[in-house]
Amino acid sequence: MGPTLAPMSQTTTVAPVSTGIDPSKIGQLASQLDSDDRGREAVFDVEGLSVSYSGALALDGVSLEIRKNFVTAFIGPSGCGKSTFIRCFNRMNDLIPGAVVEGRVLYHDRDLYGSNVDPVEVRRRIGMVFQKPNPFPKSIYDNIAFGPRVLKLTKDLDERVERTLRHAALWDEVKDRLSENALGLSGGQQQRLCIARALAVEPDVILMDEPASALDPISTTRIEDLMHELKRDYTIVIVTHNMQQAARVADMTAFFWLGRLIEHGPTDRIFTNPSEKLTEDYVTGRFG
Ligand SMILES: Nc1ncnc2c1ncn2[C@@H]1O[C@H](COP(=O)(O)OP(=O)(O)O)[C@@H](O)[C@H]1O
Ligand SMILES: [Mg+2]
Repeated sequence: MGPTLAPMSQTTTVAPVSTGIDPSKIGQLASQLDSDDRGREAVFDVEGLSVSYSGALALDGVSLEIRKNFVTAFIGPSGCGKSTFIRCFNRMNDLIPGAVVEGRVLYHDRDLYGSNVDPVEVRRRIGMVFQKPNPFPKSIYDNIAFGPRVLKLTKDLDERVERTLRHAALWDEVKDRLSENALGLSGGQQQRLCIARALAVEPDVILMDEPASALDPISTTRIEDLMHELKRDYTIVIVTHNMQQAARVADMTAFFWLGRLIEHGPTDRIFTNPSEKLTEDYVTGRFG
């Protein structure tokens, strides 16, 4: 009798992969997605983006779109180019000597690297939060008021500060100590203050590079919940090496490996039914 069984590959690609992540947590804070996201406006459209540092290639021909009011997570092992990539979205690599960016980044259909684009205005529209909370050594109030003052948005400044701190879920904790030094806050509060500082100038996008990796689990959960709240009004891109975090908060997940984008799609698909063997090996913890 000849073999009549279906090839193994057909059955293995439909069976969910085993990530060790509680399946009920995958997509817990994600938007309900249709089978795809094509109807949703693209905030960024990246085409063939490569970055090198003094000639050494760090990011190799990446193309993807970032959708409005989604949380998009970049995952992958250390050194695979996640930070390099996220810095392309607000031209932070411009500030790194030896960094060369090639390819195209459209932001709302405009070339982000066009000669008529002011990088300072770009960084107002596209805010960034870093791994280590970095409040200014100033009062809580002055941290939030800093950007608005630079931009001369000082009308009703007290209201703006309060509104911003409420938006960042920090108001109740700091309303009685606005004149105290921000460095007296806990690490988790400092990071929410940094998120608030980014929000104070009314950005469109918030980029976060491992925003919770220096925080305890409770502070981490608060940041994750905050991302979920903020995506109603903002588009959020995060880098995280914490796969539970990506699985929980991200609507879309992009997996990077050795400077290349291996796979990008709805988070539940990336974590339960990836198309690429490398993605599967990574999300199931076989390397990384
Ligand atoms: N400022 C820099 N100068 C030179 N090389 C850098 C710089 N930043 C990153 N790289 C290199 O680019 C590659 C990707 O790094 P990075 O984007 O930081 O990865 P990840 O964030 O995924 O850990 C690495 O080989 C790293 O050494
Ligand atoms: Mg990094």
